[in-house]
Amino acid sequence: MNTPLQKVETLRWEHDHLEMIDQRILPAEFKMIRFDSAAEVAAGIRDMVVRGAPAIGVAAAYGIALEARRLQGVNEQTFTCGLETAFKTLAESRPTAVNLFWALDRMKTLWQSQQQVDTHALAQCLLAEAQAIFNEDIQINRAIGAQGAALLKQGDRVLTHCNAGALATAGHGTALGVIRSACEAGKNITVIADETRPFLQGARLTAWEMVQEKIPVTLITDNMAGFMMKSGEVDAVIVGADRVAANGDVANKIGTYMLAVLAKQHDIPFYVACPLSTFDFSMATGDVIPIEERSRHEVTGFRDCQWAAAGVKVRNPAFDVTPAELITAIITEQGVLDSPDMERLQHILTGKT
Ligand code: MRU
Repeated sequence: MNTPLQKVETLRWEHDHLEMIDQRILPAEFKMIRFDSAAEVAAGIRDMVVRGAPAIGVAAAYGIALEARRLQGVNEQTFTCGLETAFKTLAESRPTAVNLFWALDRMKTLWQSQQQVDTHALAQCLLAEAQAIFNEDIQINRAIGAQGAALLKQGDRVLTHCNAGALATAGHGTALGVIRSACEAGKNITVIADETRPFLQGARLTAWEMVQEKIPVTLITDNMAGFMMKSGEVDAVIVGADRVAANGDVANKIGTYMLAVLAKQHDIPFYVACPLSTFDFSMATGDVIPIEERSRHEVTGFRDCQWAAAGVKVRNPAFDVTPAELITAIITEQGVLDSPDMERLQHILTGKT
């Protein structure tokens, strides 16, 4: 057994404020940004300072804690009104990852369960809940890692898309957590990181995480995945998820569906690694999952360098939906769900794996 990997602190609570790594400028620059209010955290989520479903959820929980702290000492009505606005602002930051809404619901449920009206005590108790969500996320990712590591064989070459690593969570990661746990268990895994156009989470973030930890990684552009699979250079695909519908359909970073189709064609196992907080039983199928459409400038170029013909029409859906039948298994903290469908999802959520 090797020593645990990964020391990246995506978010951290510092005495009276939140700090998050600015993921927009990685890997060129490593900078932590300070956040003091829910509005600042919502802007940070919208602008992709922090991204990745579980990390967005943890950030939103801290956003509520920050706002409660800012408001403590005001009268009850002002506190209630201010906190309601904070919930609304955070809920409007990004639409697809359900972990955001899951974390906000958990914070609201706790708030509403409190009999006390002392705003200092309320602020303290909301901060404790945000910290619990943070700590649980790391434990959950470790459990996902342990469940998933058993699926990987010594020497496997694993293709992953986007970044479902430490940077997308409170720590360890989901898809990259499985890879990390397999490496910690002594398996020599090599990673193939999809660049992940247009925001380049694979090239900038996944490659950075792997290089930091000396886990062998090869970067490819998204359109090389089919070639690599056909050439016999991929043993498994592992991705994260932003929302899993009741029938097992999975919304994840745009391009995931394409990979799942290719994996099926080449008889390569296609795994999704995610916490149970990513399951959304209110969505019967993936067709009703809201898909975020982002700025045209992400497609026409990158940052200040714009290369597409001026005036061209652009689409930029940030996520797609992979039908359940293309998924070999969903790896959760409670167990591995083979060939996911509605019945099997019900079982795992009720603890009957
Ligand atoms: O737009 P992003 O970077 O927030 O998209 C992230 C993804 O799609 C991840 O794969 C997903 O959130 C899972 S992260 C553990």
